[in-house]
Amino acid sequence: MLDLYDKKELKAHLPEIDESELSETEVLEQCLKLKEELKDELVILGHHYQQDDVISFADITGDSLQLAQKAKSLDKKYVIFCGVHFMAETADMVTTEDKVVILPDMKAGCSMADMANRREIDKSWEFLTKSTDKKIVPITYINCTAALKSFVGENDGSICTSSNAKGVISWALEKGEKLLFFPDQHLGRNTCFELGIQLDEMVVYDPRKLNGGLTPEAVDKAKVILWYGYCSVHQGFKKEHIDLIKKKDPEMTVIVHPECSYDVWKNADMAGSTSFICNTIDQAPSGSKFAVGTEINLVNRLNSKYEDKEIVSLSPYQCLCTTMYRVRPRWLLASLKAIKNKQPINVIKVDDHTKKFAMKALDQMFKIS
Ligand code: 13P
Ligand code: SF4
Repeated sequence: MLDLYDKKELKAHLPEIDESELSETEVLEQCLKLKEELKDELVILGHHYQQDDVISFADITGDSLQLAQKAKSLDKKYVIFCGVHFMAETADMVTTEDKVVILPDMKAGCSMADMANRREIDKSWEFLTKSTDKKIVPITYINCTAALKSFVGENDGSICTSSNAKGVISWALEKGEKLLFFPDQHLGRNTCFELGIQLDEMVVYDPRKLNGGLTPEAVDKAKVILWYGYCSVHQGFKKEHIDLIKKKDPEMTVIVHPECSYDVWKNADMAGSTSFICNTIDQAPSGSKFAVGTEINLVNRLNSKYEDKEIVSLSPYQCLCTTMYRVRPRWLLASLKAIKNKQPINVIKVDDHTKKFAMKALDQMFKIS
C-alpha cells in the first residue's frame, strides 16, 4: 500500500536516520520480527478503520465498545493502540496501572472529538441548567477527550458508543426529563428518533453562537439538546447517493454508520456500528449486495474478504478517515523498537483526577451494555 509520509515527521518518529530509508517491505518484515520477539509483553489492538497493513498486526480488532471492553482484561504490559487518540485514552483508563498504552502517531486524533472541549461544555451546562428546572442527563459519545468523559461522570451521566447508544439513551431518559448529547448531533438525533422522540423535540446547541444559539424557552421546551458536532467522514454520504445506487441496482442493501446524517440514516436499509456492519455482511448469503456508508478502509477490506458478495462504498468519493490513516506501519515499527529498547514513546496517560470521574461514566456505560 502507498505510504505517504514527510521526512521531517519521519525523523521525529524514527530518530535513527538509516531507518527512514527502509522500504515498505522492510518495515513490514521488521514489524513482524519485533512483534514475535515482544509477544510475551505486548498486545496490539486495531480499530476496524485502520489500513490493511496495520490491521494485519492487530491481535484484537473491533469497534470502539469491543476494544474498550477487551482492554479491561489485558494481561500484557504494553498495549499498542492502532486507532485514534480518544480510543487510546479510554484503553489507558480501563487497564490496570501497570499497563503502558501507546498510540503510534500522537497526531491521530478525531475531528469530531475536537468539536467539543471542557470549557465549552461547562459553559453550555451553566446556560442549560439555568434555563430549565427539569433534570438534564449528560451523555457523551465515546468519541471525545477524557476531560469530557470526566464531566459526564461528575454530572451522573454516561458514555455511549454507536453500538449501545440506544440502551444508554433509554437509561438516561428514565433517569431525567432531558438529555444533553455530545459531541455528535447525528448519532444523538438518529438514536433519539429511533426511540420515538420527534425531530421538533430536539434542538442543536452550537457553541460558536451566544448561548449556543438557543433561548431559555427553547431549552425548557426541548426533550433533547444535541451538540452541533459531526464526523467529517460520514458527512460525505448523501441521500442522493442512496437514490443513485438504488436506481442503478434496486437489489443493493444500503447499510450505514449512525454518524451519517438523519436523511441518510432514515433512507438506508440498515444502520449500526462498524461491528454491526461487519457482522451483517458476514452473515448475509452468498450473492448479497451492499452499498456501505462508512470509512473506506473498512469497506475495501470487506470487499476483498467476501469475494462471493458485492460490496461497494455508498459514496462515489473516497470517504477516508485521514486521522485513522495517520497510523502507519513505520510508526508501528517505531513504537515496537522503543518498547524493545525499554523506552516506550507516544505513551498515553490520563491524569488521576480526570480518570476518576471519566471511569465513573465508563463504568456506567459498561453496566448498561
Ligand atoms: P464504532 O464504534 O462503530 O467502531 O465507530 C467508531 C468511529 O469513530 C466511527 O467513526
Ligand atoms: Fe472521528 Fe469520524 Fe474518524 Fe470516526 S471516522 S475517528 S468519528 S473523524
